[in-house]
Amino acid sequence: MSTKTIHVTCSRDYDVLIGSGLLQKAGSLIREVHAPCKVALISDSNVAPLYGRTVGDALQAAGFEPVTFVFPAGEASKTLATYGDILDFCAKERLTRTDLIVALGGGVTGDMAGFAAASYLRGVEYVQMPTTLLSAVDSSVGGKTAVDLPAGKNLAGAFKQPLRVLCDIDTFDTLPEEVFRDGCAECIKYGVLCSPRLLDIFAEGSAREHIAEVVAESVRIKAEYVAGDEFDTGIRRYLNLGHTIGHAIERTANFGLLHGHCVAIGMVAISRAGEALGITKPGTADRLIAICETNGLPVSCSYSTEELLDGALADKKRTGDTIALIIPKRLGECVTHTVPVSELGTILDLGKETSR
Ligand code: GLY
Repeated sequence: MSTKTIHVTCSRDYDVLIGSGLLQKAGSLIREVHAPCKVALISDSNVAPLYGRTVGDALQAAGFEPVTFVFPAGEASKTLATYGDILDFCAKERLTRTDLIVALGGGVTGDMAGFAAASYLRGVEYVQMPTTLLSAVDSSVGGKTAVDLPAGKNLAGAFKQPLRVLCDIDTFDTLPEEVFRDGCAECIKYGVLCSPRLLDIFAEGSAREHIAEVVAESVRIKAEYVAGDEFDTGIRRYLNLGHTIGHAIERTANFGLLHGHCVAIGMVAISRAGEALGITKPGTADRLIAICETNGLPVSCSYSTEELLDGALADKKRTGDTIALIIPKRLGECVTHTVPVSELGTILDLGKETSR
């Protein structure tokens, strides 16, 4: 299978390469965009044992000098402390401004290594090597880097675009099914925003068979939003479809539910509310429910409006007394609908299964 390339145009242009066997070629593919140097290879305790050696060997064979930092896998590691450990590691290894950071792993790894790249010596280059479907189609592209603070997720970070993104689809073979599905929800989101082709693939439940196309189409769409609004002050907010309610569910569940699963529930709820408000074409929520269920994603939760309201009000996208919701007009086209914060409870009620 040939490698697909999606070009991202923003303050610094770069390519996202999607294909099979890219881990083994990581050295030569990075060599195309960076001279040999020391490389801080950042990974977690799940991914490093699987792929760390392969990538390290590939880097070495291409003339790089890799040194590896591994942290315990999981969102609990996405802290200022781990971020500080990465910076300390880079300093101890005497990385200079012409050296490189490579993030090998899922979203936690990419976000933290990216933030370290944005800040170490006031900025060094970095390469994203996502190993989950979710990070391949979302966090590895677009330059958002972050760590969590005790007050909330991703509250400290920077925009820092990578030098290149290498997405080896073979890494998805080792993902537990529910982690693969986690990424499917974000791909379905791109379908609901603007891709009938993605919706068709997910409607027939054939994402694994078409995985390279799914990733490439998702990244293509994300790249368009990033090109139009790199610093997230306008149209990039469309990428938050399903996220206002999804984040509220995540917070209420104390992050015990996977992000994509919450986004699936959020997309269904906002479609239902949109139908009730006359914004969304009738039948949209039902078709979306069928697509989510075909892909093993949940479509409802048992939290009350009161429980969800607190979480929804903490949304980073809220500006003052209003909240901008992204609502499907139909599958493949969405609109922004800004409501006073005081109306959010009504929207949450309208989004419930029982409201129909
Ligand atoms: N994850 C949404 C964005 O990158 O803007």
